[in-house]
Amino acid sequence: MRDAFDILLLPGDGIGPEVVGAAREVVDAAADHFGIEVRYEERRIGGTAIREEGEPVSAETLEAASASDSVLLGAVGHPDFDDAPASLRPEAGLLGLRKHLGAFANLRPVVAIPALIDSSPLKREVVDGVDVLIVRELTGGAYFGEKEEGEERASDLSVYTREEIDRVARVAFDAAKRRKRRVTSVDKANVMATSRLWRRVVSKVAEDYPGVELDHVLVDAAAMYLVQAPTRFDVVLTENLFGDILSDEAAMLPGSMGMLPSASLGKPGSPGIFEPVHGSAPDIAGEGKANPYATILSAAMMFRHTLGRPDVAEAIEQGVSVALEAHFSTPDLGGKKTTEEVTKAVSKWVAAGEGVM
Ligand code: NAD
Ligand code: IPM
Ligand code: MN
Repeated sequence: MRDAFDILLLPGDGIGPEVVGAAREVVDAAADHFGIEVRYEERRIGGTAIREEGEPVSAETLEAASASDSVLLGAVGHPDFDDAPASLRPEAGLLGLRKHLGAFANLRPVVAIPALIDSSPLKREVVDGVDVLIVRELTGGAYFGEKEEGEERASDLSVYTREEIDRVARVAFDAAKRRKRRVTSVDKANVMATSRLWRRVVSKVAEDYPGVELDHVLVDAAAMYLVQAPTRFDVVLTENLFGDILSDEAAMLPGSMGMLPSASLGKPGSPGIFEPVHGSAPDIAGEGKANPYATILSAAMMFRHTLGRPDVAEAIEQGVSVALEAHFSTPDLGGKKTTEEVTKAVSKWVAAGEGVM
């Protein structure tokens, strides 16, 4: 088992530095407990990079990402850049990083944690038992197609190739094999050409996975099922834009954007990007109210998916469950704890395997 890792920290904007700081503290506690060495390099991305370096992500930062074992990212985005052109927006830094690392598969697990069931705006009986993995394609579709932006006319071209669909579908089917063996592919095949290709390619990939059941659901209906009967889903496989929207909707199953972690993965052996699903939350930045669980759980995913240390991942996940059971929750979950109090609770448990209170 490996025991030394180089992690690139990209805190970004808004609450990004608060939640990445929290995750770092928990990782340090895990490093102490497991006797591993974690070496950090910290760089800028997003609005802070535009202000200090003139661009949302520099070539040096992209190089540092490629040279790292994994990237732990907070969030990008700031209202100051709302009217900026696409290439000078904070979001361009994140999109550039994903493309640079070839991080085409974004895993977004959505789990109803027992201690949080009453934090969800949905009824207990709807949320109880939810365990969905959204597999979102991350480097194609309308996000990355040719763009035209004028005063009278604008367009975002959405392109998918067979190869792009095939490789992300395999990630979803491989995951389903280790779960409840069911993939729901979500598209808009009644209207969109990219979706019809998507459906054909996913059906073809399914032939290689005879033990996994596949169904196809149109995205509008999927949005409804996600709040009507979310336990019908195991793995949800979908394109970039639909996955972005459905995952924010799915955040209401555990009850808050602050609970959804993610892993953005490329070819085996390449560094992954581990980032919460939420944004920079400018409305609460700097107030100690940010929920750090999504980023802490993203760090756990990092140990599982690219660092080859599922034991460390499990310890961090257990620390989160124990802290939640002991009511360490931030205001978005209906609690009164600060980011720091939550972080200390998780770190203490991870360091000692006990003693949250
Ligand atoms: P957001 O996710 O930042 O916030 C939506 C709502 O959820 C806000 O009320 C916010 O306070 C709350 N929230 C989000 N994360 C939270 C947390 N950890 N703890 C407590 N509450 C939390 O989405 P938005 O307001 O639409 O976007 C703000 C900025 O973030 C935009 O510039 C957007 O582009 C950017 N963004 C970045 C990412 C990313 O970096 N991955 C993701 C989404 C949005
Ligand atoms: C996310 C975010 C990003 C996306 C933005 C900030 C580019 O919303 O990670 O979900 O749309 O992918
Ligand atoms: Mn999003």
